[in-house]
Parts: sequence; C-alpha cells; structure tokens
Amino acid sequence: MEDTQAIDSGVEEVLARFEGRRGELIGILQAVQERLGYLPTRALLRIARFTRVPESQVFGVSSFYAQFRFTPMGRRRVMVCQGTACHVRGGAKILEEMEKQLGVRPGGTTTDMEYSLDTVACIGCCSLAPCVMVNKEVFASLTPKKVKDVLAGRGEG
Ligand code: FES
Repeated sequence: MEDTQAIDSGVEEVLARFEGRRGELIGILQAVQERLGYLPTRALLRIARFTRVPESQVFGVSSFYAQFRFTPMGRRRVMVCQGTACHVRGGAKILEEMEKQLGVRPGGTTTDMEYSLDTVACIGCCSLAPCVMVNKEVFASLTPKKVKDVLAGRGEG
C-alpha cells in the first residue's frame, strides 16, 4: 500500500528546489524518482500542477524515458546487462528468461515486492559476459538455464 503522506512530503521537498518552469520537468521527474525510488501517480499529478504541464504530457514524457519507473522497487533489484559485450553473448536471451521467471518486464516489480527487474548498459564485467547484477552481487557467464540459479535465493536474505 502506498504511504500517501510520505509520497506527498517527499514530492514537496523536491519541488521546493524548483521554480515550476516547464523546462524543469525532466529534472523534477528525476529528482522525485531519486527521492521516492519511483514515480507514483499522485506524484505525477502534483508535478503536472506544479509545472503547469498537462497531465497527459507528464505521463507521456515520463513513460517515454526508460529511466523512470512507476512501481516501487522490490527488495532485490535485478539488473540484466544489455551492454554491447553482454548483448553479443546472448544478453537478450538472459533478459527474456528473467522476464519469464519473474513474470515482469523491465521497470516492473513482482507482486510480492521481492524483485524489481531492470536493464543496465554495462556493469563492468564485460570479459565475463553476459552478466546480471542482483543488488550488489554480480552473476557472470550466464546462460538462460543458469538464470534460475541467480534467483535461487528468492525469499532469503
Ligand atoms: S557490457 Fe555487460 S558487463 Fe559490460
């Protein structure tokens, strides 16, 4: 359940640093996401009022950019590398398998709030591609079959 009070105060705290100009929209979205971890609908509506940008446009802009997420972060953040080295070594297949296993697309969070799925451009282990990072732990030289092992600790920790 969303803690609306925490959302509202977090948003107001961020908005206090801005003037409310249309051109600030992306910066505000970034700052609010940084503060809250995601962009709840009520935050987007408040941002629309603040910047006087139509709500539909705020929703449109925020969903255009992959960096923004609309669901809270799960306890474990799975980042599947889609950088060049990982891509040429089957990173897309790893992502596909991860989506299947978790039942969410990138930017999504499992209903038990355990896992969030995201893609990332490079996690600095290119020689061991393809790689996945779960919170701070790196899993390297993956195959679609090994994806299950990455999630084997599900529910622990
Ligand atoms: S491209 Fe995946 S770790 Fe560098």
